[in-house]
Amino acid sequence: MEAATIALDSIDIFNPDSYARQGYPHREWALLRRHAPVYRYERPNVEPFWAVTRHADIVAISRQPRLYNNGLIPQVIPRESQITEAETIPFRTLLQMNPPEHGRYRGLTSPRFTPRAIRLLEGRMRAIAREVVDRAASRALDGVLEARQCDFVVDVAARLPLAAIGEMLGVPHEDWEPLLRWANEVIGAPDPEFRRGRRTSETVDQARLELFDYFARLAAERRRAPRGDLTSAIATARLDGDLLPVKEMLSYFFLLVVAGDETTRNATAGGLLAFIEHPEQWQRLRREPALMRSAVEEVLRWTSPLIQFRRVAAAESALRGQRICRGDVLALFYPSANRDEEVFADPDRFDIARQPNAHLAFGIGEHFCLGAHLARLELEAIFGQLVLRLEEVELAGPVQRLRSTFVGGIKHMPIRYRLKPAESA
Ligand code: HEM
Repeated sequence: MEAATIALDSIDIFNPDSYARQGYPHREWALLRRHAPVYRYERPNVEPFWAVTRHADIVAISRQPRLYNNGLIPQVIPRESQITEAETIPFRTLLQMNPPEHGRYRGLTSPRFTPRAIRLLEGRMRAIAREVVDRAASRALDGVLEARQCDFVVDVAARLPLAAIGEMLGVPHEDWEPLLRWANEVIGAPDPEFRRGRRTSETVDQARLELFDYFARLAAERRRAPRGDLTSAIATARLDGDLLPVKEMLSYFFLLVVAGDETTRNATAGGLLAFIEHPEQWQRLRREPALMRSAVEEVLRWTSPLIQFRRVAAAESALRGQRICRGDVLALFYPSANRDEEVFADPDRFDIARQPNAHLAFGIGEHFCLGAHLARLELEAIFGQLVLRLEEVELAGPVQRLRSTFVGGIKHMPIRYRLKPAESA
């Protein structure tokens, strides 16, 4: 135990540069799960927090939203970003709300995200996935199966989530690119590729203002002439007879755009990378397409694109023998829970037939991902196309990861591929 204590003091699970360089610290998380599952993380680059790394503890905490609140900042952030709780955070999304208010706001849109409502979008999602892959295939038109290259993230993985949330919100097609840029800047602000201005917080603020400005205008139009889209639903929603306050209304759009764009993309890119690294699993999926649903769950477990969300203790409590004081911050590390050896047999094996697969990629409890069924459908649609048409695929250059302690992003992933045209698939 002595040795473990020394090793724990030197481990680093919160360095944005490490996430950019080498991806997730699975070895370190495994050490924490084993020796200190609720670990007081004190380092110069971040306000102290409790790192929660086991599946059972994340479930228990997430299911007690009155004891473990969502605060003004949804995730633990490094000191370098210079955003503090003391500053007024100029938006309020579902992720900043607690019961009972949270449920009332969530209920305004949740009927559009139920499994049944999302299934109605299936045909449309499949058509978009086909168009996205067609575009990559058209690069290879001259020689039908000639090997070609693309940046899988920019050319394929980012396209379907953008189209999905763009269509659901009723945003005109020509305005989708700015949506993607704002979402990239909000999540990618700690990364020099996406930073505008000197500080992370400046980038986030700038993108948020532009997004607010855009949706203030679109919401006003929809109030005058409502349609069947999600923008109209939010713009005309009423709580106790009143329209939503402007800040909460605009924040709703902000959350949907950012959450809709920045997550499924990384599961798609990370999923294809997992298949490239485990070609026998790809061949199995091609032989047994009926495994698609469980393959998607395994892709979600494996990639777990959200690194952590934050909770704040509303009262004193005990967790694994640790005394948690009122006001203490806890970070729930979902990718660690998804490799928890107490829950998953052989957790470091990528297995598309894994059953059961109770992963926490979408969180659990009060704030369980609103878009989970949409994300699953998007992943089924895109991998459904790829499994039919991708004859060969390999990396054509280094995978570039996002510099972030919040989203495990892949910014660029050059691939070389042979793709069948749709008609012959
Ligand atoms: C692979 C894709 C996705 C992953 C891994 C993911 C993950 C998550 C996680 C971990 C949470 C927080 C759960 C918690 O605190 O317990 C969350 C919340 C949320 N997600 Fe997702 N998400 C994905 C896709 C989407 C999509 C496509 C949308 C919307 C169109 C979306 C909308 C939301 C919203 C609105 C919340 C806040 C829910 C609340 O606070 O009640 N997500 N998501």
